[in-house]
Order: sequence, then structure tokens, then C-alpha cells
Amino acid sequence: MGENHQSISAFCRQLPKAELHLHLEGSVEPETLREMAPGLSLEEIRSHYRYEGFEGFLNGFGWVVRRLRGPGDYALAARRLLERLEGENVRYAEIILSAGVVLWKQQEFAPIYDAVREAAAGSRVEVWWILDAIRHFGVEHTRKVAELAAERVDDGVVAFGIGGDEARGPAEWFKEVYAFARGEGLRLTAHAGEAAGPESIRAALEIGAERIGHGIRAAGDPDLMQLLKEREIPLEISISSNVATGVCGRLEEHPVRRLFDAGVPLVLNTDDPAMFHTTLSREYEIAATCFGFTQDELRQLARNSFRHAFRPVSFPEAQ
Ligand code: ADE
Ligand code: ZN
Repeated sequence: MGENHQSISAFCRQLPKAELHLHLEGSVEPETLREMAPGLSLEEIRSHYRYEGFEGFLNGFGWVVRRLRGPGDYALAARRLLERLEGENVRYAEIILSAGVVLWKQQEFAPIYDAVREAAAGSRVEVWWILDAIRHFGVEHTRKVAELAAERVDDGVVAFGIGGDEARGPAEWFKEVYAFARGEGLRLTAHAGEAAGPESIRAALEIGAERIGHGIRAAGDPDLMQLLKEREIPLEISISSNVATGVCGRLEEHPVRRLFDAGVPLVLNTDDPAMFHTTLSREYEIAATCFGFTQDELRQLARNSFRHAFRPVSFPEAQ
């Protein structure tokens, strides 16, 4: 590894950054999961961190979340994640907690939320929570998650979103739920244009999404890119995620450079860092080494990450 590469890697680590698309459950490292499920071997756990296709990933995610037994496990996950974020100069994080999965597991949500909130309270990272529903579980399920989020608007929850399979849960189903969430003071995001096409992004915008999770399929639609640029709707880009889930065939084909050059607002993220074997610094490094982003451009991406946060926070320019 050359000196130049080392200096890029150090630059990316030291750059003050914000994470806006980061699933708590997908941040659990196999070693931590083993502490939660001591009967499992590391090899068995690791076998669920490798996927064939997007559906395979969703199954892996489902397998991991089922191992989180209750408030103690969620709190441990949050503590470990925040230690890592502090170590790579992440100053601010909006962490997605899959409240939908908690309901699906028939666990009580309040003690789990209280536990992660408390775990984050002592961190140097400023943390806000995004509660996320599983769109392919349908409208009623999603409404329940929006209600849980609305109850916590003054208590650490900043936004509401939908994840899961776009094809089996189109955004238009959730128009009323999004209107309810907005009325309750929640900000809105949605995974879209990840495994489905640009129409899925348009549908997410139609119901009021203010940021788009992934959105890489906008790259094939110049009118949509223009719209995102004009309306200053950022895409929450996660390069390693897109390659690991197979929604982007090969790393070199990832449209991050095309989107950036077209003026679409972008923010780099990890999505599920443990499940995609990455870190936020690494995502910046990939942008530099595989897509030719200069240090100025990386700084612009970092500035974007603060600018598009749902809470007012500014990029620490002096550093
Ligand atoms: N849940 C966790 N990660 C996800 C992703 N990349 N897409 C959809 N749902 C998810
Ligand atoms: Zn995601």
C-alpha cells in the first residue's frame, strides 16, 4: 500500500463526518452477535453476513435482527457502534432503528428505545433516531411504526422512514401514513431507487420524502436528477451496500460519480456497516480511490452530510 493511499485513508478518518443512513441492527459485528447468542459459532454467524442478491441480504438482515433478544442487546449494539463512530471522527449520527422489526418480533418497543437512548446519552457523537417500518409488511404495520415515532418526537426521534422491499411495498401505499408523520412534526425519508427503478423514487417524493435512501437508479433518468438537484433532495449513497446486495453489479459501475457530476446532492453513508464490512471513512476512501474524488470533493461530501441532517448542525470548517 503506497504512501498516497495511506494519506487518503488518514484524511478520510480525520475528516469530521455525519452519518445519515445507518441501521443499528446492521451495525452489529459477528463478535458482538456471538455475545448475544453464545451458542452460535463465529463461522455460522459469518455465513449470514454473505449474500446472494438483494433478497438474500434482506434474509440475512432478518436473521441478525432475530438474535437481538431485548433492551440489553440493543443497548450493547448501540454502545459498540458509537465507540466505533467516535474513533473515526463521526460527530453526528441519525441512526435508523427498525421499530418495524421489533413489532414483528412481538417485543415491547418502549424498553428497547429507552435502552438505546440511554446508551447513546454518554457518547461524544450527537445522536438522533429514525424509526423505520418494513414496507412489505403493509400499511397497518407502517402506521403503527409512525405512531411510535410520533410519540417520541420530543424524545430523540427526528424522522420516520420505510425500508425493506420496494417492489413488494410501493411508496404510494403510505401516502396517508407519511402525511400523518409529517403532521406530527417528524421529518421524512424513504429507501427508494435501490432495488427498484426511478419510478419508485418519484413515488417516494410524491408522498413527501425529504431525503432518499440510496436512490442510485436516478442516474438513468436525467429529468429526475434535475428534479433532485432543483429541489435539493439528497441521495443517501452507500456504495459498499449496493455492491454487496447486488443492486449494483460491479463496484466500477456504481453511479456515484455520475450523480455527483450531474449536481445531485449526495451524502455518503454505510447503511449496514457490519453486514457490508465497511466504515464511513472507508466509504469516503472508496469514493477517492475508485471514483477519483479529490480531497476538496470529499470535504464537500462531508459538508453535505451536516447540511442535509434533519437537525441543525454545522460542518466544523476549521478542522
Ligand atoms: N434494511 C436494512 N438495510 C436495508 C437496505 N439496504 N434496503 C432496504 N431495507 C434495509
Ligand atoms: Zn438502509
